[in-house]
Amino acid sequence: MQDIQIMPSILAADFGALRAGCVRAAEAGADQLHVDVMDGVFVPNISFGPEAVRVAAGAVSIPLNVHLMVVNPMPYLEVFAAAGSDTILVHVESECDAEQALREIRLLGKRAGITINPKTAVEDVYAWVDAGLVDEVLVMSVEPGFGGQAYLTSAEPKLAALRQRYAELDLSVDGGINAETVKGAVGHGANLIVAGSYLYKKADMSQGIRELRDGASECRFWEN
Ligand code: DX5
Ligand code: ZN
Repeated sequence: MQDIQIMPSILAADFGALRAGCVRAAEAGADQLHVDVMDGVFVPNISFGPEAVRVAAGAVSIPLNVHLMVVNPMPYLEVFAAAGSDTILVHVESECDAEQALREIRLLGKRAGITINPKTAVEDVYAWVDAGLVDEVLVMSVEPGFGGQAYLTSAEPKLAALRQRYAELDLSVDGGINAETVKGAVGHGANLIVAGSYLYKKADMSQGIRELRDGASECRFWEN
């Protein structure tokens, strides 16, 4: 059984005060920080590079969960590892050999994650998980690229299929999470919860994190 963990996405922080945004999340009780790296080609938006990971790593001691939304992550794995990532997630849809990328992330001493887009079949990640190459599967519950979008319930059957197949796997959900949608995600098997706008818009982020934990504990998949 995996613990529920809350991961604020610093994509929703004030970029002019990024370090303070990281500290704010850690002080509010976040378990990890989620860092969305976007290259403007794999997704229609450009966000952070390795320097932002370095800023986050210098600001907080909680782990950094780094989500690479880039066409080909291979040439960048080393630099993101060196910048202070703890988990590096690549997309199964990106133009690289997923097995090679996952092996490289582990060789760099980091947790290896694989991510699927809303339109991608969940079965597409089974081979890598079955081969023991994956520490975390991230199921997108919005089309990647922007914060603040509405949660897609189409993520839920994918989460359920993954949880039924892999009882002990860390299973994350990303996009449109709030105190209501978290229940569906966790009820279908997610245990790592990414939330951007919902948490950063709160006057008191610790209250938002508590609300997510409460919603999650009402609906844990394995307790249903
Ligand atoms: C979208 C990103 C998400 C995003 C979530 O491409 O991967 O991490 O920050 O933001 P919210 O919680 O605002 O939907
Ligand atoms: Zn993300």
